Amino acid sequence: MQDDTNYQAFKQRIQSYLAEKQRHRFVDFSKRERRSDLPLSAIAAISGGKYMTHWQGIEVFKDPLDVVIYQQLIAELSPKTIFELGTYTGGTTLWMADLLNTLDIDGQIYTVDIDGSLPDDKVKKHPQITFIEGDLNRIDSVFTDEMLTQCPHPWLVIEDAHINVVGALEFFHKWMQSGDYFIVEDTNPDSPAISGMGLFEDMEYVPFGLGKLKELEQFMQVRGDDYRVDSYYTDMFGFNATWNWNGFLRRN
Ligand SMILES: C[S@@+](CC[C@H](N)C(=O)[O-])C[C@H]1O[C@@H](n2cnc3c(N)ncnc32)[C@H](O)[C@@H]1O
Repeated sequence: MQDDTNYQAFKQRIQSYLAEKQRHRFVDFSKRERRSDLPLSAIAAISGGKYMTHWQGIEVFKDPLDVVIYQQLIAELSPKTIFELGTYTGGTTLWMADLLNTLDIDGQIYTVDIDGSLPDDKVKKHPQITFIEGDLNRIDSVFTDEMLTQCPHPWLVIEDAHINVVGALEFFHKWMQSGDYFIVEDTNPDSPAISGMGLFEDMEYVPFGLGKLKELEQFMQVRGDDYRVDSYYTDMFGFNATWNWNGFLRRN
């Protein structure tokens, strides 16, 4: 059992550790490695639990590491607008809306999916959530200039549809202001190739591969001067210990 003196010493130590981390926090994308401290076996095992995670009875397609990272980022950024590309059932959307309320953040969430039958009614009826049924292959027909002009910053833009990734990032890039964030989901090549792998024993575990990370790298080859990787979030639990390798990007 630790005594109070030890806790005080720990508090001081963690504060200077965090201050040091802040100094080296924002990193040039080209300096980031294509690796993680988490082995494939950990990703495969955690994937099983990821498909059993719920919020208010609705599935949340998130691993526990990114749930914590998201909640810290949302608390710090206080986004006035969140765009979620890929809704699925909307458990994540509802959780983020509840988080905005708990944190007293006056924010709105726009979430898009091609399949309007997937999101739960609770999500569609929530006053802070606007569900848009649309095809992100034609992203300029999903979001109009008129609508985006009216969305207050800071923005948090989450790419989680895995469709037209570079096109979607380029589309939003035109609108991003200093301090806004992109989260590019599932750039971890060890993520399961098909949902359910890691949970169902009759499905062999096949890793997703480098496809999505390469799409992010393609975008950052062109826009590398405009964004920095926020290593406070990517590396919170170890280097790239997230489903989103190098995927937390802050607009300069
Ligand atoms: C990985 S899931 C999203 C998970 C969700 N963000 C969460 O955290 O639970 C990907 C979603 O993208 C949607 N999607 C696939 N192709 C799409 C397209 N062309 N346009 C819009 N959404 C699409 C799928 O229907 C699916 O619900």
